[in-house]
Parts: sequence; C-alpha cells; structure tokens
Amino acid sequence: MIEHEPIQYDVLVIGAGGAGLRAAIEARATGASVGLVCKSLLGKAHTVMAEGGVAAALSNVDDRDNWEVHFADTMRGGQYLNNCRMAELHAKEAPARVRELEAWGAVFDRSPDGRILQRNFGGHAYPRLAHVGDRTGLEMIRTLQDYAVHQEIEVHMECAVIELLTDGERVVGAFAFDRDRGTFKVFQTKAVVLATGGIGKAYRITSNSWEYTGDGHALAYRAGAALIDMEFVQFHPTGMVWPPSVAGILVTEGVRGEGGVLRNSLGERFMFGDIPPAYRNQTADNEEEGWRYTQGDKDARRPPELLTRDHVARCIVREVKEGRGSPHGGVFLDIAWIKEKLPSAAEHIKRKLPSMYHQFKELADIDITEEPMEVGPTTHYVMGGVRVDADSQMTDVPGLFAAGECAAGLHGANRLGGNSLSDLLVFGKRAGEYAARFAQENSGGEISRDHTARVARAALEAFDRGVDAGGAENPFEIQQDLQKMMQDQVGIVRNEDDMQAAVEGIGRLRERAERVAVSGNREYNPGWHTALDLRNLLAYSEAIARAALARKESRGAHTRLDYPDKDEKFGKLSVVIRKNSDGDLEVSSEPIPEIPEGLQRIIDAKK
Ligand code: FUM
Repeated sequence: MIEHEPIQYDVLVIGAGGAGLRAAIEARATGASVGLVCKSLLGKAHTVMAEGGVAAALSNVDDRDNWEVHFADTMRGGQYLNNCRMAELHAKEAPARVRELEAWGAVFDRSPDGRILQRNFGGHAYPRLAHVGDRTGLEMIRTLQDYAVHQEIEVHMECAVIELLTDGERVVGAFAFDRDRGTFKVFQTKAVVLATGGIGKAYRITSNSWEYTGDGHALAYRAGAALIDMEFVQFHPTGMVWPPSVAGILVTEGVRGEGGVLRNSLGERFMFGDIPPAYRNQTADNEEEGWRYTQGDKDARRPPELLTRDHVARCIVREVKEGRGSPHGGVFLDIAWIKEKLPSAAEHIKRKLPSMYHQFKELADIDITEEPMEVGPTTHYVMGGVRVDADSQMTDVPGLFAAGECAAGLHGANRLGGNSLSDLLVFGKRAGEYAARFAQENSGGEISRDHTARVARAALEAFDRGVDAGGAENPFEIQQDLQKMMQDQVGIVRNEDDMQAAVEGIGRLRERAERVAVSGNREYNPGWHTALDLRNLLAYSEAIARAALARKESRGAHTRLDYPDKDEKFGKLSVVIRKNSDGDLEVSSEPIPEIPEGLQRIIDAKK
C-alpha cells in the first residue's frame, strides 16, 4: 500500500493560469468547495505571455466595433474551422468579462477620455485589445489571484496531476504528486475542470516555460475524451532569436500594434509583397497608409504586419530560407523607425512597451528605441485540445470540463492574438459555473483503490530501475530528442515523409521512456518530474503528428509543402483523436457543425 493524502472537493480545478483561476472563482461563488491545483507557484502561468492585450469589442477607440465584427474576425482568422457557437459566446461575453476584471482591480491603460484603451492587433478589424502596456496577462493574473485568494479556495502549489480517476463512466477524482515533498495526493471530487494550458515544451523553440507539457490534453485523452484540431500549433511570428540562451522568448505583437515593422536583410518591408486575398481590401499597400492606420485614421487600411500570425510566421520563414534573413536566422522588427514620425518616440516606446524595452536591453544589449530587434517564429500556443460542449465546456467524459488553451474549438485553424485572454475569461467562467452545477446535481463516485495503487506504482518505477543498469535512459535526453524531432519534422512547414518519420520516432522514444531511470529521493527531484512528464509529452506529440498527417491540405497554422492549397473537403471537418478500446491512438474525422443562418449572415456581411 503506497501512502497518499486523501482530499475531497466538489470541484477540482487543475491549472491556475487565467482559465483555472476564473473557473475556481466562479465555482466557489456558487458555494461549492473548490480545490485549485497549480503545477508551479501561484501566479506563474503562460497567461502572462499574452502580453499585448485582451480582445473585447468594447468599441472605446472605434465605435464601429461590436460583437458581430469580433465574431466574424475570429471565424475568418480560424479559417472557419472554429466552433461557431463558442466564437459567438466569446465575442458577446468578452466585454463583460473585461469590465468585471476592471471592477476587481485590473488597471488598464486609459484613453484620453478615461476609458479602457484598446490597441491594434493582427486580424482584428479595429483597435480591440484592452491592455496594460505590454504586461496585460500579468495584470490579469495578478487581479484574478488577488480576488481568488479571498474566496476560500484551497490552493495546492507545486502539485502535478498524473492521472484522472474515473469509475468507467464519469470522472471521480485525480491522482497527483507534491513536487516539493514527493508525496502523493488523491483528490475525490464530483467535477474536474482542466485548465492546464498548452504544449510548447514538446518543441525546441518556444515561448512556454517548463510547466507546459500538455498535461490536460493527455489526461483527458487517457480518460476517454476526444481531442480535436491537434494539427494546429501556433508559431507566434516574433520570438527572440539571439542570444541562443533566450531564443523563443516572446516579443509581443503589441510592438507591431504600436507601429513596429518587419524588414529583411535588404531593408524591404517584405509583408507588402504577400497579402492574402481574404485581407486585401483591408490591408494597406504602402507605408504611409499603414502608419496612418496605426495612428487612428479610420479611413486608412491596416499595415501588413498586422495580418494573421500563421501568415506572418510563414512569410518570415520564407525570407530566412531564401537568404534574406538577419544574421542570427530571423528578420528585423523595427519600432525605432517611428522616431521619423513622432518626436517623443523613445518615451512612447518605453511607456507602451516597457517589458520589451527591458527584455532586449537586459538579454540582448539592444536599445529598441534606437535599433531593430532580431525576431523569428516561436511555438506559442495550440489551437487544438479537448473537445468541449460550447456552452458548458463539458468534455465527452461526464463531470470533466476543460477551459482555456487545453480546450479546443474557439480558434479553429489559427488564433487571433488577444483572443486567448478573452477565451480564458469567458470560458473559464462558464467551465466553473457548469462544473459546480454538475457537482450539485450528482453525488460523488467511488475511487478504486486498485487504480490508485497502480498509478502510484507506475509513478515510482523510474526509481526502481537503477541509473547504472544497462539500457537505462535519461529523461532529459528523451525530452530533448523529442523537442528536436517536433521542431524539425512537425514544425511550421510540414510534409508527409517528415511527419511519418516523427510518428515512428515518437514510437522509439516511447520504448526508451519505458527504460527511464532516475536517482536520488522523491523530494524536489527534477529528473523524476521530467520522467513523469514524458508520458504526456509523447502522447500529445503523437496526436499532433498523426492529426497533421491526416489533414492533407494547408490551412491556417498547418502548412504542408506536399499539399500547399486549401481543400474544400477539409474545410468542413475536424480531425479527431481518441484512445480506442485497445488503448491505442485512433484518428478519425468528423464534420464540423453547420453554421446557423444568422451567424452565416454576419460572416458574409463582414467579408
Ligand atoms: O504577442 C502577444 O502579446 C501575445 C498575445 C497572445 O498570444 O494572445
């Protein structure tokens, strides 16, 4: 019998970024007892990497904006693979969620008349991103955390869930370990909300930190929930490329929102040369008009740097590949040029982009008010995730809910910047509300002792194999090999042979992972933590590669050299990943729900 601490809640929220905090607050507001599991320290979450703003049609800067335009922009950005009901709810409810956050203490930048200021971002027709300089996600987390800690929500920091417990029909709990002490915890609960964020740590270059090993994706998959859209991984166009130790750190799209432009080594603004048909009538074809747009001229068209992320990332890759890149393999992002236009440019840049100013000064010795930055794509976000009901956020497994990045549907084939922060507020709230309702309407289920004993034994196996035994594998090396493989073979530009090789490679890594060995004791043991993460990393990496193989077209963030065009047939379906009855990963496709007539009319009117 392996010792564990039993803990009971009505609702357990796994993940304490924006979505998890918002879900916990909402569930607790109904009177439910709530536990909040946080893989690292409370407040440390990828939410802070959405720096440039939260998208909500407040229409404070441009009164032509409203939920319909936001909805249509989100659908077009997602290439119409989005769950249209989620896109509708998101666009309608985001303004209320942002105002609520303000009422809870978030201090947004203000317009001259004292309203929440909004800035331009890629793919949004109007300035729509409420922001706090370039620290919006941080301010959101601060506000939600300050609010949550007064609601009698029990927080379990440095705690990672390694298995969801089901009774064969519904979720009944979760098995976790305390990273600090190495002890086990068994949560018995009536409902679970997954809010674990993304998958970036399967890639070599990423804006994600160590926590983002797709835990929610893998936990849900193993519990029997379907994953959709896993082929759509977002490579944010602008991450740092130099020095190597900081490659991948995010350079906010807010830089481009404030007038930053992209140039190649010839000094050309290469984005002018490649404007997709769907955006042609809204995109400026000359520098002057683009700048006027940035300055709020409502008759001007957007600069091409504010096209959608999938497109901008591809253009950067093309420039580098064709020999017009910057010295360290990126391109130049220049905000210093606005000195030509604004006498107080340096102060403006430092005020609107303080983190970027310090980040480049400290990490790369670059003064961005004087010199261009070197940037290139970085793995930032996954559009794919656990399939949920649009209104309740419940997955296919009764009692299991998901919200934020680990849930799928809202963003389709490509997410617009700023839509993640509004996503986590809108759907975090909904997940918390419906999870609490589920907990009220259902009694708790039974946890099988055999199951918890099996999970505990499996978790400790890496200690039993000696590190010096023949064939013993090092967990860090396996993760590194996976990162290289995913970066090179299932990255921004893909083809059949590479992805097939990746699927086979993941199989070999899985065999190696079965021989993984760790030394030392259970107290704060990073080798053991990585060994436990490998199972999730390998599961969702296979899901990404297999889904990408199945989508034989190029759309949104999924670009294939062997299928370079969109295929109408694939524009009507989702690739679905499930675990079959033999425990193997199964790929299928299902039609995406028809867009109701009323919503279709809105899309058509805004085209
Ligand atoms: O560029 C950014 O500030 C990131 C925003 C986002 O991912 O939503």
